Amino acid sequence: MQQGTLLIRGAQVVLPDGVAETNLLIRDGKIAAVDALRDSAADEVIAADGLVILPGIVDDQVHFREPGATHKEDLGSGSTACAAGGVTTYLEMPNTQPSAVTMELVRWKYARAAQVNKVNFGFYIGATESNVQELRAAQGIPGIKIFIGSSTGDLLVDSQDALARIFEQTTLPICAHCEDESTVRANRAALGANLSVADHSRIRDVQAALVATSRAIDLALRYRHRFHVLHVSTAAELPLLATAKPWVTAEVCPHHLFFSTDDYQRLGSLVQMNPSVKSARDTSLLWQSLLSGSIQVIATDHAPHTLEEKNRAYPNSPSGLPAVENSLALMLDQANLGRCSLNQIAGWMSDAPARVWGLVGKGRIAVGYDADLAIVDMAQRRTIRNAEQFTRCGWSPWDGQTLQGWPVQTLVAGQTVFAHHRVAEGSHGSAVLCDHARGGFWATSDGIGVA
Ligand code: DOR
Repeated sequence: MQQGTLLIRGAQVVLPDGVAETNLLIRDGKIAAVDALRDSAADEVIAADGLVILPGIVDDQVHFREPGATHKEDLGSGSTACAAGGVTTYLEMPNTQPSAVTMELVRWKYARAAQVNKVNFGFYIGATESNVQELRAAQGIPGIKIFIGSSTGDLLVDSQDALARIFEQTTLPICAHCEDESTVRANRAALGANLSVADHSRIRDVQAALVATSRAIDLALRYRHRFHVLHVSTAAELPLLATAKPWVTAEVCPHHLFFSTDDYQRLGSLVQMNPSVKSARDTSLLWQSLLSGSIQVIATDHAPHTLEEKNRAYPNSPSGLPAVENSLALMLDQANLGRCSLNQIAGWMSDAPARVWGLVGKGRIAVGYDADLAIVDMAQRRTIRNAEQFTRCGWSPWDGQTLQGWPVQTLVAGQTVFAHHRVAEGSHGSAVLCDHARGGFWATSDGIGVA
């Protein structure tokens, strides 16, 4: 934590109720004033005239591969990519090797992250068909992750009885990967051999997503259990979300907003992911849901695999793509194009995920909140290049794309962890504190009010 005072002056600041030119005073790592005088006394001053400050991004869905596959990412490299992308908090998924299905394994990740990390962190515990006792005892973490449908790794809870037990008997919020395993298997069997990568979206089709999301939402409503649908990919799921408040929230990933089945021809297995990309119509309706508020969160599902692995012939190519360091720039570019506002971006990428997971002190630029900040230059134009990626896997599906609007400086608890295209030495950030009792999304009658 930054000790002493820091004044950041002259920026346009994205506050909860609008954007204002103001000066932020930070004391001991927390926001002490949002309307400080321009010449307030401080130990350190950042002149941010002409720049914009957003609350640091909270990415509630990343896969960092440690332990088990650190040749493609580890907690150090993954969190370095976060810092470079304006992401100040990440929540990491349990499908490592071994899978994090006990609190002992989850605690190992917390201890490791405390040594090597650049930003704030939290880790989910993974559900299996038989670890409900372990899930019941879990505490101090954001929540439980269920794979209803297998993906990378060995986690799968397919039986409806096992799913029901988890929703009935646990108390932590649950999130799930929703692709129905039986539907996926039947689709694969029907397609036979000689598959090409475009078949990925026929195997993991709209029906697979719809069936699994429906199964999980039914249970969430039956047992009145907080439930977050990860990476919604189809228009077909959207009506389910609309009826499921206040118990259910949902998120969409940049790849489902920016890619569709039309991109297999150009990008092949680089856009192979689970859930699969769907039609351009789905993409456009996902955007509409985000803009209308029926999807509340954007997170990346950052899933690094090496290019060598991705270039294997389908179906031996793994699913997933890296995105954590480009998600904010992708959205800032959209703001520059007039498709959304800076306040909407702050809501989708910071405030909403912080409230879904009850993250204390995160998600807003307001007095008393942690000074986790993304300073961005809305005029900067830069092209995404594989060679410049911080993720260990060293590529991006957006390689060659020029965006306008980039994070230029990232602060965690008032300390600069990224500036001038460099990530700070040493370890930074700390474990998130989760207060599920104040989960704002569920505390109000319409489901998306302020806690
Ligand atoms: O495509 C994906 N890859 N989807 C997931 O849910 C998991 C991820 C991975 O870990 O590789």
